Amino acid sequence: MRKKAKYLCRECGLQSARWLGRCPSCGTWNSLIEEVINSHKNLNSSPEEIELPCPITEVSLQGEDRFPTGIDEVDRVFGGGLVPGSLVLLSGDPGIGKSTLLLQISQLLSSRMQVLYVSGEESTRQVRLRAARLGALSPGLLLLSETNVDIMEYHLRELVPQVAVVDSIQTMYKSDLGSAPGSVGQVRECAAQLMRLAKAKGISILLVGHVTKEGMIAGPRVLEHMVDAVLYLEGDRRQFFRILRCVKNRFGSTNEIGIFEMSGSGLIEVANPSVLFLTNHPQGAVPGSAVAAALEGSRPFLVEIQALVSPAGYGTPRRMTAGVDYNRVALITAVLEKRVGLNLGSHDIYVNAVGGVKLDEPAVDLAIACSLASSFRDKPVDSEMALAGEIGLTGELRPVTGVGKRVKEASKLGFKRFLLSSQSAIEHTAETRILTAESLATALNQAIKA
Ligand code: TYD
Ligand code: MG
Repeated sequence: MRKKAKYLCRECGLQSARWLGRCPSCGTWNSLIEEVINSHKNLNSSPEEIELPCPITEVSLQGEDRFPTGIDEVDRVFGGGLVPGSLVLLSGDPGIGKSTLLLQISQLLSSRMQVLYVSGEESTRQVRLRAARLGALSPGLLLLSETNVDIMEYHLRELVPQVAVVDSIQTMYKSDLGSAPGSVGQVRECAAQLMRLAKAKGISILLVGHVTKEGMIAGPRVLEHMVDAVLYLEGDRRQFFRILRCVKNRFGSTNEIGIFEMSGSGLIEVANPSVLFLTNHPQGAVPGSAVAAALEGSRPFLVEIQALVSPAGYGTPRRMTAGVDYNRVALITAVLEKRVGLNLGSHDIYVNAVGGVKLDEPAVDLAIACSLASSFRDKPVDSEMALAGEIGLTGELRPVTGVGKRVKEASKLGFKRFLLSSQSAIEHTAETRILTAESLATALNQAIKA
């Protein structure tokens, strides 16, 4: 029997028996989404799964042991491994490698435990062919090609695997809902059902979620609030490496990243990312290039920042960035104009983090500023110098965290000098000389020789 559905306004919570284009209560357009009316009144779980309140001292800690996936880069991002009974969302642009990564993880885990891989996008034959390219096949990995979430629930309850992969949540549907798979209502209901199942049965469920055009996980981030961890797989499609980034993690730190290189046999871990991001770094000095010592989570790596500043031919000057924040570059450009006196206003500006890596750390400010000033003056930045520092609006150079790790990484890669704010907690190493500056203007004088 088809259960009755109702419509709920995402903005104000108004309920309606039929779909309306505009909420009559708050006036928002397109905000009504379909939901199933649960037969157990307000209970989400079936009665036998209801948990009773319990003293904090008696809460069982069993089953909290994480199990490592066997891929170090993935385990670091998870904070040590998968937590039983957790729901994890892996999202990213189509074609970035989500299915490949999850299939690799499934294959590694399946030698030790039972893993169910549910694909709503490919046939089991296609998945097998793909898996064979990635590594050894194990009978512990069960494949299912299914899009009905209720049938999937049946299998999960029958098998109770330790891990299940659902590729992708946008292809799953619940027949009680009239809306199409991939719609906000469907995505939300399916994920909620899987969430309850994960918690009740202690199954770790990994969901694949495609990113929509607006760069959000369909529908409007509804999933991010529900799940225990949200991971993004990102990278430039034309580049050969991928970054796994954690943006939410109920069981660990959120600022860790994992770096992988694409290959014919799947994703390969990159233990030393600096080597990757500096591969084409010109050994001789070239104007417009500077090396930033970045820190992502507990992980330092060096990235080359390139800038091109050239007189604008006609009309409004062009400003373009790749891998670094556009607004940050605008701010640094303004500081360079006002505090250092570089007349950048009538110039086109392009800034690029080499390799397609995305940096959102303020410590890369100094490298951006040096590459801009270097290109503008047509004088190279000291090619044996690594830089780390945040730039303030008054032109001051601010300290950064994790100086020790950054300097060590720079020493390891043979950088002779390291420039940072004079307020930083400085840790000296034998190989790399530490230089400090109070303001951006003095920093530029140290990094760019006239
Ligand atoms: P896929 O995992 O299907 O991307 P998604 O699930 O995010 O849409 O990967 C896209 C294509 O890239 C697929 O044809 C396989 C190929 N690929 C490799 O050849 N090697 C790799 O390491 C990865 C990650 C992908
Ligand atoms: Mg896929």
